[in-house]
Amino acid sequence: MNQVNIALIGTGRIGRLHARNLAYRVPGARLLAIVDVLPDAAQACASETQVGEVCSDYRAVLERRDVDAVAICASTNMHARIVQDAAAAGKHIFCEKPLDLDLGRIDAMLAAVHRAGVKLQVGFNRRFDVHFRRVRDIVASGEIGVPHVVRICSRDPAPPPLAYIKVSGGLFLDQTIHDFDMARFVIGREVRELYAAGEVLVDPAIGEAGDVDTAVVTLRYDGGAIGCIDNSRKAVYGYDQRLEVFGSRGVASAANPRPDTAEWSTADAVHSSMLGFFFIERYTDSYIAEMRAFVECIQQDKPPEVGGADGRAAVVLGYAAKKSLAENRPVRLEEVATPKE
Ligand SMILES: NC(=O)c1ccc[n+]([C@@H]2O[C@H](COP(=O)([O-])OP(=O)(O)OC[C@H]3O[C@@H](n4cnc5c(N)ncnc54)[C@H](O)[C@@H]3O)[C@@H](O)[C@H]2O)c1
Repeated sequence: MNQVNIALIGTGRIGRLHARNLAYRVPGARLLAIVDVLPDAAQACASETQVGEVCSDYRAVLERRDVDAVAICASTNMHARIVQDAAAAGKHIFCEKPLDLDLGRIDAMLAAVHRAGVKLQVGFNRRFDVHFRRVRDIVASGEIGVPHVVRICSRDPAPPPLAYIKVSGGLFLDQTIHDFDMARFVIGREVRELYAAGEVLVDPAIGEAGDVDTAVVTLRYDGGAIGCIDNSRKAVYGYDQRLEVFGSRGVASAANPRPDTAEWSTADAVHSSMLGFFFIERYTDSYIAEMRAFVECIQQDKPPEVGGADGRAAVVLGYAAKKSLAENRPVRLEEVATPKE
């Protein structure tokens, strides 16, 4: 298959970004239709991407024979239904993270995808970030020896609106989920146990909504390595995203890339540019790379680089972290879910 015809479903923050990438920056992709339950949002996105077909019911695009694949960027609570309908219609699927907040529904989604024999790629874009991918490649090459310690720092510049927090599944399933995926990806090992400490230090309203805004999660991997993820909903100096793997023969790390390399000094201090504002600025290239990989896996009929099992595994880690926080004790993953291949 040369050209891959794609319909995009959901034109919010991330959907608009993916639509622009699919329209202009992904060779072999043709953005054929835009869907959103909000007609104005769909139309605005279609105008921006010069797409002629707009509709408000995603089932209409699933009926079209000329649609090969869908990019699901609708709200999380819609993912399960759209994935199952898209699979039944024989469409390849890109689905934003998290697949769903409920493991039972995730298993139903994965079963539908398996039955239909279509491809499912999950939106863990950080795997396609050149800096983090280089660290992963260095670790995989054996250059730093056996991994002993993984450190992931992931802090947002500001909390999302409270209304979003209430339906997000909480810090671990909304924010840390990317870090859980990175923790597995960067050393290619599974986590067997974790301990999560969490506090409300940024905004009491987040605590009243039943969530935490600051957390540290300690991970124990199969094979003996230890990991540490630290999260905050508010870093006053900007979006802070760093990664380090310490091994028996060295260390590999990725610092925050700066928007520019200018540095200037005055009598009191040395200055440099602030970090990019948030995920759209920091991960621009990774969003393009993940869509290129999605289109390539369809064209070349190969498995997606980040599939349904990866989407499920990150949610299992989120479940374990929630349980650990609630019960203030280390939790083994088999306490919250049975492993899947
Ligand atoms: N990978 C990332 O970095 C990243 C970043 C942000 C969001 N996300 C994920 O992407 C998804 C969307 O997040 P967002 O921030 O863009 O949300 P958003 O609320 O800005 O946008 C969601 C859009 O989906 C539309 N929608 C809802 N139900 C629909 C349906 N049945 N059919 C068609 N459209 C429908 C809404 O009208 C809205 O326009 C979430 O699952 C979120 O977790 C991922």
